[in-house]
Amino acid sequence: MRSSLSDEQRPGLATATPPVRHVLSVRDLPRWWMEQLMAKAEWLRSLPRSAVGQRLSGKIVGTLFYEPSTRTRLSFEAAVARLGGTALGAENALEHSSAKKGETLRDVLRVVGVYTDAIIVRHHLPDELEAAAEWSPVPVISAGTGSGEHPTQALLDLYTIRREFGRIDGLTVCVMGDLKYGRTVHSLLRALTRFEGIDVILVHPEALGLPEALARELAAAGLRMRREVSLEAALSAADVIYQTRIQQERLRSAEEAKEAGALHILPGHLRWMKPHARILHPLPRVDEIHPDVDVDPRAAYFRQVENGLYLRMALLDELIGDHGGEVAR
Ligand code: NCD
Repeated sequence: MRSSLSDEQRPGLATATPPVRHVLSVRDLPRWWMEQLMAKAEWLRSLPRSAVGQRLSGKIVGTLFYEPSTRTRLSFEAAVARLGGTALGAENALEHSSAKKGETLRDVLRVVGVYTDAIIVRHHLPDELEAAAEWSPVPVISAGTGSGEHPTQALLDLYTIRREFGRIDGLTVCVMGDLKYGRTVHSLLRALTRFEGIDVILVHPEALGLPEALARELAAAGLRMRREVSLEAALSAADVIYQTRIQQERLRSAEEAKEAGALHILPGHLRWMKPHARILHPLPRVDEIHPDVDVDPRAAYFRQVENGLYLRMALLDELIGDHGGEVAR
């Protein structure tokens, strides 16, 4: 895959201070860097496994999960293993780690950073990690923070869109489901502000729309967004249909819970979608996409999972590999 940047536009890559040290919010990630990462993911996947198995040899990556996770944690651990590094982790860190004794996240990162070369953290509070990461001696990668952001999911979502369509610019993206608490949508929309000619269609239960501050931020960044209440109108207009789970565990009122669960993609809806449309979902799915939809070639969510592995390999290689900062071929 080629980056759309010309050589003059591309900043010097082999700088002593990497332009991205921690990956905590998509707000900190420039387009050229995301493009470079996607190109590196594509390059790594094209190589035989034996050719990439030494790239992180001798490196140790810590994983701290204060909230439940299956795929994000395993995909990071698999990415580390494929590159020949070692992952050490605390799952269910809230219960089983020193957080239970009242240790602050800032201290945890300072300590774990002594043992490791990078730390992957999933935390339940949206803002805690950004403040604490300043104290980490090693790069910190967010694996999702409460209802805030999930930057690596957005990177793999972009990579999936790029692979499926050959481009990201100019697409109509319908984001559906829980736009209030769904952190993957928050990060994806922020990432889409970096691209040209994107139209966003918002489909959500009345009480689960985008947080107002985020909607303002995205509008100020020039992202064109409109709400659509007709599912048929939204699905027939979209190139990318990004369906999400209702975050039941985060709902705060009866009003929020009232219509939750009303937005399903059913086999009968496929006829509304464009022939080249693609359905994405960060997973886990509950019942918001009927399993019979899976056999339709437009269902891209399991391909998205595989892309996540390569994207996370590229990210680790870029941040802590000895080859980080090199231009992907
Ligand atoms: C998402 C998450 O944790 O935010 N899952 C993931 O990382 N792939 C989506 C969700 O939990 O609904």
